[in-house]
Amino acid sequence: MKGETVQRDSSSSTRSGTIRSLATAVILFLFLPLAFGTTFFLLQTGAPPVARIPSNIAWTSETMARASGGDAFHGMLLARRCDHCHGAEGFSPLASTPNLAGIDRPSIWKQLQDFRTQKRISPVMQPIASSLSERDVADVAAYYSMLPDFPDPQDNRSFPQSAPEAAHVALASRLVSTGDGERGIPPCQACHGPVAYRTGAPALSTQNSDYILRQLEKFANNSRSNDINMPMRTVAGLLTEEEKHALAEYYGSGLGLLPAGATAPR
Ligand code: HEC
Ligand code: HEC
Repeated sequence: MKGETVQRDSSSSTRSGTIRSLATAVILFLFLPLAFGTTFFLLQTGAPPVARIPSNIAWTSETMARASGGDAFHGMLLARRCDHCHGAEGFSPLASTPNLAGIDRPSIWKQLQDFRTQKRISPVMQPIASSLSERDVADVAAYYSMLPDFPDPQDNRSFPQSAPEAAHVALASRLVSTGDGERGIPPCQACHGPVAYRTGAPALSTQNSDYILRQLEKFANNSRSNDINMPMRTVAGLLTEEEKHALAEYYGSGLGLLPAGATAPR
């Protein structure tokens, strides 16, 4: 009798064991992908400020339309909040703050979007960009893109900065006009103009030296990582310290305004 009971028990426990492991398999099969999916989703949306994907912006006809559809007049009114840092005419009094005059709409628009979403980290610009509505962002982009980049001795802009030494001019102009094929560095002017513009690559020809230097350093050490397909993290990572300084001085002194190749050593 005893033996029978034990037998019955053990066989029923084997059966329920089988059912349990089947159930576990079904649960794993059904819920693991879900769990992974959720984790992945959280990683994407709840990502800490250090960007896992470079930018929430991808260049499509839809984002291009949003970036280009702003009202420059309304942008002009909003820009009064930006004047004391970026200058009344879009040229900053500080060489460490970017000039915005004449920068194309998509570039300005994308940077403001990236500040808002903290894909580009700036304790100064993040709250300012977040205070603008979606429409405001397009409007200020329209306004700054229309400001002329010719000199005005009346305002206190810091551009252009003083000319670099000849050796630095030679070093920079070679990188700007031809790059360095051996190290896989494409010419800057192939993306930043004047030869060609990559969408979202701002013109550098009227940009300030200290600002350019800081950005190259940030791309090189990954503290700025909002470049889609990472052209800048790659390029900046390949440049030497001396080259970064030479390039920043080159653009900051206005040499980038000269016809392509005019400053390159023969
Ligand atoms: C308190 C000073 C200050 C004010 C006010 C300010 N900015 Fe800025 N802005 C900065 C600084 C500094 C940077 C560079 C941040 C960095 O180092 O990455 C910057 C960067 C930017 C950039 C990125 C430019 C580039 O070439 O990538 C844009 C666009 C911009 N600001 C737009 C605006 C607009 C529009 C306003 C007004 C609504 C504004 N800023 C107000 C200081 C300011
Ligand atoms: C393959 C295209 C490409 C090449 C080549 C390239 N850049 Fe860029 N660069 C970009 C793009 C795109 C951005 C904008 C990244 C973003 O979306 O924030 C950028 C951004 C920058 C910025 C920040 C500008 C700003 O206003 O915030 C600097 C400075 C810069 N590049 C310097 C250089 C220099 C110097 C070279 C040459 C040694 C160079 N780049 C070569 C595509 C390129």
